Parts: sequence; C-alpha cells; structure tokens
Amino acid sequence: MIYAEILAGGKGTRMGNINMPKQFITIDGTPIIIHTIEKFILNDRFEKILIVSPKEWINYTKDIIKKHIGENDRLVVVEGGSDRNESIMSGIHYIEKEFGIEDDDVIVTHDSVRPFLTHRIIEENIDEVLKHGAVDTAIEAVDTILQSKDGEIIDNIPIRDTMFQGQTPQSFHINTLVNHYNALSGDEKTILTDACKICALKGENVKIVKGELFNIKITTPYDLKVAKAILQERISK
Ligand code: CTP
Repeated sequence: MIYAEILAGGKGTRMGNINMPKQFITIDGTPIIIHTIEKFILNDRFEKILIVSPKEWINYTKDIIKKHIGENDRLVVVEGGSDRNESIMSGIHYIEKEFGIEDDDVIVTHDSVRPFLTHRIIEENIDEVLKHGAVDTAIEAVDTILQSKDGEIIDNIPIRDTMFQGQTPQSFHINTLVNHYNALSGDEKTILTDACKICALKGENVKIVKGELFNIKITTPYDLKVAKAILQERISK
C-alpha cells in the first residue's frame, strides 16, 4: 500500500511569539497545513493520508480539516512524537496497528509547512520509492556551500555542482526505514534528525527527485511573508 504522512507534530519555535504552531497559521484564509493536505488529497494513489499533530492540537487539527475539507475517510489524525523522526515513527506505528506492514508498503513523508509542493513532485516520489528503498527531494545548491566546524574558519568549500539542498517529501519502504531507525543507539537518534541521512549512512541508495525552488519550508516570519507572496502570485495568475 502507498501511504502519505504529513508531519505537523512540531511547535514552530523559530516563528517567534505566536499563539499556535506555525502549521496552523492562515495564509489567504486557509491554514498552512490545509494547503498542504489539499495537495495530497488530489493524488488518488494514497490509500491513507496520516497527519501527525501535537497531542494538544489533535482536536483542533480535526476541526479545521472538517471545516476546510469536510469528511474524508482517507485522512487520519495521529499524535506526533518528541522529534521529527519520532513523529514519522508514530504514524508508522499507527499503520502497523491498524493495517499491518507488508514488505512492499511505502510511505511518502512531507513537512506540513511546505505547502507549495507540486503534483509532479508527489508522483515522482511515489514512482521512485516503488523502485528504491528511500527517496529524497532536493534542488541543486544555488549558493556556494562553505563547511566550517567552528563557524569562524572555513574547513572546506565543496564543488557546488555536487551540492544539493534537501527538501521534502522524503519517501521510504516502511520496513527499510524502521529497520535502520531501530538499529540506531539513543545518541545516534538525537544526532541523526534526517530520516534520509539514516538510510544513506546505513548504505541504502537514496534516490533524488528534483524539487522546486518555491517548495520552501515555512520556518521564520520572513518565510511567512515569502509564502504569502508566492500564493498571491499564483492566485493572480
Ligand atoms: N515536526 C513533527 N514532529 C516534531 C517536530 C517537527 O512532525 N516533533 C514537523 C513540523 O511540524 C514541521 C516539520 O517537521 O512540519 C519540519 O520541522 P521544523 O520546520 O523544524 O518544525 P518545528 O519543529 O515545528 O519548528 P522549530 O524548529 O522552529 O520549533
């Protein structure tokens, strides 16, 4: 089966002093998370679309889904975890409990705060994860990337042509991800915050799907302004 998992278990602390996690902020009258969910609903290859939300925001998440989308039995709201990977695992535990996990089951995970992903990006994630153990979405690095351990002196400047900027979706064969994640020590789990990095370090070939410059993650108040501008631009076209 093909699952989607929209990650909304975070608090959005870098957004500053707001009274709700950033995924619930409205852009053009619609919460960011709803913009994102709408993109996934349009793809009928997903059996279920899980939305992981902080425990205290689960009812709110269900309410806004009802208000903006209506009843949809493909959508399931699940409690998130203590960090991003734990939130991914929380969705996977739900799948295991409700449906069981077969070897060919795959999951397309996506940040709820990246509402501008395209149908092409979702389709290519599905197509590629059916052929590979793991898939990441990325764009070629536009700036030269500097490497510095202390933030003072440059250690290395990698060749830009080989540098990419990671986005989401990140997609996985569920059993492959679970096996690699469960093999990590507690310390490794705190350091390895990126699920694709876990797979790459464990020797998995992680296939790259081309992202889009506008597939931004809304992290700071500045990103929110950019997001409003992107949406405005689209609406006016
Ligand atoms: N996320 C999650 N569960 C967590 C932490 C993060 O599902 N325990 C999700 C966020 O809701 C977000 C995505 O992962 O959609 C990307 O993470 P990030 O932008 O870092 O979100 P936050 O952790 O909410 O932001 P901040 O670090 O500013 O607090």
